Amino acid sequence: MPPLPSNLAMVPFVSVEHMMGLVHHIGIERLLQDLAAEIENDFKRWESFDKTPRVASHSPVGVIELMPTSDGEMYGFKYVNGHPKNTKEGLQTVTAFGLLADVDTGYPKLLTEMTLLTALRTAATSAMAAKHLAPKGAKCMAMIGNGAQAEFQCLAFKAVCGIGTVRLYDIDPAATEKAARNLAGSGLTVVPCKSSEEAMEGAEIITTCTADKQNATILTDNMVGPGVHINAIGGDCPGKTELHRDILLRSDIFVEYPPQTWVEGEIQQLDEDHPTTELWQVVTGQAEGRKDARQITLFDSVGFAIEDFSALRYIYRAIQDTGFYADLDLLADPDDPRDLFGMLTRAKA
Ligand SMILES: NC(=O)c1ccc[n+]([C@@H]2O[C@H](COP(=O)([O-])OP(=O)(O)OC[C@H]3O[C@@H](n4cnc5c(N)ncnc54)[C@H](O)[C@@H]3O)[C@@H](O)[C@H]2O)c1
Repeated sequence: MPPLPSNLAMVPFVSVEHMMGLVHHIGIERLLQDLAAEIENDFKRWESFDKTPRVASHSPVGVIELMPTSDGEMYGFKYVNGHPKNTKEGLQTVTAFGLLADVDTGYPKLLTEMTLLTALRTAATSAMAAKHLAPKGAKCMAMIGNGAQAEFQCLAFKAVCGIGTVRLYDIDPAATEKAARNLAGSGLTVVPCKSSEEAMEGAEIITTCTADKQNATILTDNMVGPGVHINAIGGDCPGKTELHRDILLRSDIFVEYPPQTWVEGEIQQLDEDHPTTELWQVVTGQAEGRKDARQITLFDSVGFAIEDFSALRYIYRAIQDTGFYADLDLLADPDDPRDLFGMLTRAKA
């Protein structure tokens, strides 16, 4: 019998079951508020992070991406896919998992599911951005695209921005029914709609969160009136956008990390010298967010590694002293660090 793995071999692993338990233990709205605050704090120290556009492997039907970053103390990465055709095959569009490691030793400190955590962090980031960019006192949001991310977005806007009404639209009425059912009892007034135009009636915030592997036009220019904030989530790959170019030309555009957003975001439709503002500069007060009531603000979200890092570190802290993880025998730990082969040999039955 080989000896049992040592403590050094063990890495906390948060399974999907544990993540769901943790979310309910903390409370989903409180967790979304906490995550928004964590992400905002990390945006305030943006310059202390290593930054690189995510590493994307494209195929005709989807993309698989690795998203690394480090603040010099911890290192994190996420594996994530995006396959819009998947739901037709009974699979999800987006799945993810991620890892947090100690920079000093290089040893992993956490391995976790991130499919749920991605939905939570994306919603928290959107709401944090809207806190800085949306019209003051906004109460109504149009939610276009009612798939996996939708309810998370709606709840984050309620918890962080005080939204009271969501107007739902999806080309597939079954998705709208699902989202309306899930949001019943949330405290939000939920209005299922039959078109994007109907969903946008009276909305001060418009979230687009659709999945399609093409340059789609979810919003056309004539649909967008002055003064709204657009939270565009679904356009996040080369050749995969949601907004008509003319909307971009009328908007003040805010982005996460420009070298990534120019490749993946709505702004891939624009000339490279078109002005954009980095969200972290708004968060730190170095750049202006919303200037006036008639301005259209657009958060051209693609999802950046620092948001995942914030989420990983939050989960790492949150699981301490709880039962919401299992120790995983992830690291080989030979008695003599240089005798890896000996450890293998001695394990032979
Ligand atoms: N920016 C980010 O950080 C971030 C994070 C996660 C996901 N995403 C992206 O968000 C999008 C949605 O993700 P999901 O997990 O909810 O996907 P999903 O497949 O579960 O849901 C997408 C929904 O969009 C609907 N849809 C497609 N075309 C539409 C149209 N023309 N009008 C209205 N609805 C339409 C579909 O019917 C579906 O219900 C994906 O493109 C994904 O890549 C972005």
